[in-house]
This record gives sequence, C-alpha cells and structure tokens, in this order.
Amino acid sequence: MSTVIKGGTIVAADRSYEADILIEGETIKAIGPDLSGDTVVDASGAYIIPGGIDPHTHLEMPFMGTTAAETWESGTFAALSGGTTTVVDFVIPGEAGMLAALEEWEGRATRQASSDYSYHMCVTGWSQKHFDDMAKVVDRGINTFKHFMAYKGALMVNDDEMFASFQRCAALGALPLVHAENGDIVAALQQKYMAEGTTGPEGHAFSRPPEVEGEATNRAIMIADAAGVPVYIVHVSCEQSHEAIRRARQKGMRVYGEPLIQHLTLDEGEYFNRDWDYAARRVMSPPFRNKLHQDSLWAGLAAGSLQVVATDHCAFTTEQKRFGLGNFTKIPNGTGGVEDRLSVLWTKGVETGRLTPNEFVAATSTNIAQILNIYPQKGAILPGSDADLVVWDPKLSKTISAANQKSIIDYNVFEGFTVNGLPRYTLSRGEIVWADGQNSQPQPGRGKFIKRKPFPAVNAALSKWKEVTAPRAVTRSPEHMPIGV
Ligand code: URP
Ligand code: ZN
Ligand code: ZN
Ligand code: ZN
Repeated sequence: MSTVIKGGTIVAADRSYEADILIEGETIKAIGPDLSGDTVVDASGAYIIPGGIDPHTHLEMPFMGTTAAETWESGTFAALSGGTTTVVDFVIPGEAGMLAALEEWEGRATRQASSDYSYHMCVTGWSQKHFDDMAKVVDRGINTFKHFMAYKGALMVNDDEMFASFQRCAALGALPLVHAENGDIVAALQQKYMAEGTTGPEGHAFSRPPEVEGEATNRAIMIADAAGVPVYIVHVSCEQSHEAIRRARQKGMRVYGEPLIQHLTLDEGEYFNRDWDYAARRVMSPPFRNKLHQDSLWAGLAAGSLQVVATDHCAFTTEQKRFGLGNFTKIPNGTGGVEDRLSVLWTKGVETGRLTPNEFVAATSTNIAQILNIYPQKGAILPGSDADLVVWDPKLSKTISAANQKSIIDYNVFEGFTVNGLPRYTLSRGEIVWADGQNSQPQPGRGKFIKRKPFPAVNAALSKWKEVTAPRAVTRSPEHMPIGV
C-alpha cells in the first residue's frame, strides 16, 4: 500500500518547493514531480509541513493535589487534529523512583495514545539511586531530564542537587531541562500577598514577577556551564529570561529557549478585573506577561535566540481550578493548547509577517527534533523520515471554542480567537489520522513510543571546550562524578 500526496508546496525549515511525496508503509519513500501511488491525498493550494512536535505536555499528571484532567486519549487526539503528531510528556517520579513512574506513564500511553510520544524524566531530588536510575532511564531511550527550580516543598531541587544532576547528564550524554523560577522568592511573595488579603488569581501573577524567572534562568545557565552540559529552558515567558539565554548563546554556550504559544498571544490582562473562574482557568507558571515581554519572545523566535514553540499542555477543569477559591496558591497551575498551537502560531505569527512559513516549521517541529536527537526520523520531510505530514490549508478558518474542541476540558484559553490555517489532513507514520470535515477517530493505542539516543560527546557546554584545550585538563569518568547531597 502506497500513498501519494499531490499538488502541494512542501515547506521545510530550510526552503519551500513544489513536489509530490510518495509514502510506503510508515515512511517517506520519494519526493519529486509526478509521483503515483495507490491512494492520492490532494494537497492542491496547500502546504505540506512536517508533523508538529509538542515537546511539553502533562497528560493525566498528578500535580498540586489533583490530576491533570486531559487524558492521553483526548490529549493525543486533540494534538493530531491540530497538526501535532508527536508529544513529549513529563514523567514525575514518586516515592518508588524513576523506573516505577516510567511504567505508570507507559501503561497510560500505550493503551491510549493515538499520536507518537516520548518522555522527559523529572529529577526531583538527589541520591545514589537518582544517580543510578538516570543511566537506566537513558537506556530506555530517554535523553532529557527536567528540573524544577520552583514548587518549593514539592518538586523543587536546590542548586547542589541540580549541579549534581547536570553533571550526571553531561556524563550520560543527556540534556537537562529547567523550569526556571526562583522557588524561594515565589514562596515568600505568595505568603506576602496572602497575608495582605490578595487571595484571588491576580495574586498568582503578582507572586511570580519576571525577576524571579530571569534570576533562575541565569542561575541554571551558569550551573549548566559549570557542569559542562548544554541546557534547555522550558516556558520562557519574559525578556529577563530571554536576555539571559541570548547573552549565553552570544558567548557560545549551547542554551535553548522554549516560549509557549500562550505567552506569545495572551497577556496579564487575563488575570485582572475578571471573574474568578475566568482568571483561575488561566493560572499557570510562569504567568502571562505584558506586551513588551511578548514582543521580546516574538523577536527571539525571528532572531533565533529562542528556538521552539511549545504548549506546556497541563489542563484542569474549572471544578479543579476551584480548589484554589480563597487561596490562589492552591489553584492547580496549568493551561491547555496542544490542539491550537499550530493554528494560533500561524495566525499570529505567519499571517502578521513576524515569522516566515519556514521559521514556523522550524519552531513547531524541526528545531525540537534536532534538540531531542530524533532528527530526521521526525521533524523532516526527507526520504526515510517517518511520514508524519500535515497538509496545511491556509484558507481553512475557524473560531476556537470549547464547544467543539477535541480536548475534554470545559473551556479553552483561546476561546473566541479566529484562526486561519488548519490541517486539511494529518498523517502519522503514513496513516491519515485527521481529515477536515470528516469524522476522524484515530485508534487509541496506535501511537508509538519514540526512543531517543544520548547525544554525542561533542554536544558540550562552553566550559567543557575550555577544559579540553586547557593544559592541565583531567579526564573524568561517570563513576567519579560527585553525587552531592
Ligand atoms: O503551570 C504550569 N506550567 N503547569 C505545569 C507544570 C509546569 O510547571 O510545567
Ligand atoms: Zn514548568
Ligand atoms: Zn510544564
Ligand atoms: Zn573508574
């Protein structure tokens, strides 16, 4: 069985050109003029882009006393319907450790996922067991480890723990990810605003100002450089954080920054003079910022100082948000977006001229495929690549509404946005899993786990290159790494 996508313009990260695509089985067989196959997919008047990769989701994640309500089934179907064919979800270890948590996540994903998926492993403390388990996690095909500098008393790691884990990442060829907010300052500001009687959702925004994010971003970058490892900063929301990333990159450090579609398009006005439910539904960390910060993020995407647009899809129902009535610190943190990331970025980015179509593809797919070491299996339209393809129709339009979304949440933070640009078809490993105007129902469980290999040793940080060239450089092996606390 072969499929040919005919009549479209291929938009890759590096160029756009007209060609047909022949798919055999799950992969791209050929690209060129006048190809034929058993099934024809019409792409006339449309672009063909590599399937979106959302590197930041929290499906059914236990968090803040509850569990994110978006399931693997609804979340991955939502992703496919919006042109995202791979999601990367965060595994949070409990008392039983990383491997046990991985089994839990695997249990949910293998039964329910209709898109492909991978995981990041979270490091929420430090011990010999963490040190040992990280190698086993890498063997399972996971080459990224996430660190929370916020959520004090819960997920937060201190600098010594982070330094130890970053060194371990360096030794294993893994990439550390960081949620960069100064958790001590956030906790102090939360107490201050609660004590002053600011108990509503606006207190969430007040207690997490851009300074706490800028400070933590800078600290994470310096710790990564001291450990000799690149670093990836998730949900970059403000100029202070972007500035730290820009400065580091300008010095030659391998630092990556990921703004979210929410921060690019929604501002702090979402929290003020709003009814409680409206504002609480938009509570996430970091909070939405003002227009100046948004401009900084857009500029970073155009200039290349920020590389990836994600969603941090972590969706709670209104009922769950109400756990925080009378105390904003108890509102479950998180918003959705996995369904709408591409169409909102196309509308607010490409249609406005802020991004070229090629930059759009880089930010939604190709860059993160390279950062995660799954390129060109994913993120590319090349012979041999997985046939994860979206026939992107710039003339399809809709007004986003919770009333007709695939997500099972009872609201949508983009409610009322009119978007132009939507998938006419989404193909995942050669299978049409979404077709506009038809009642597509991809099979839960059809999604595959995508293994990611460790990075080659050359993928080091600036300090490491200095060490290599220094006259008294010492060779270290993983078992001689300090364990820390
Ligand atoms: O508010 C957020 N971002 N919730 C999800 C967890 C995290 O911090 O990424
Ligand atoms: Zn986070
Ligand atoms: Zn997150
Ligand atoms: Zn030894």
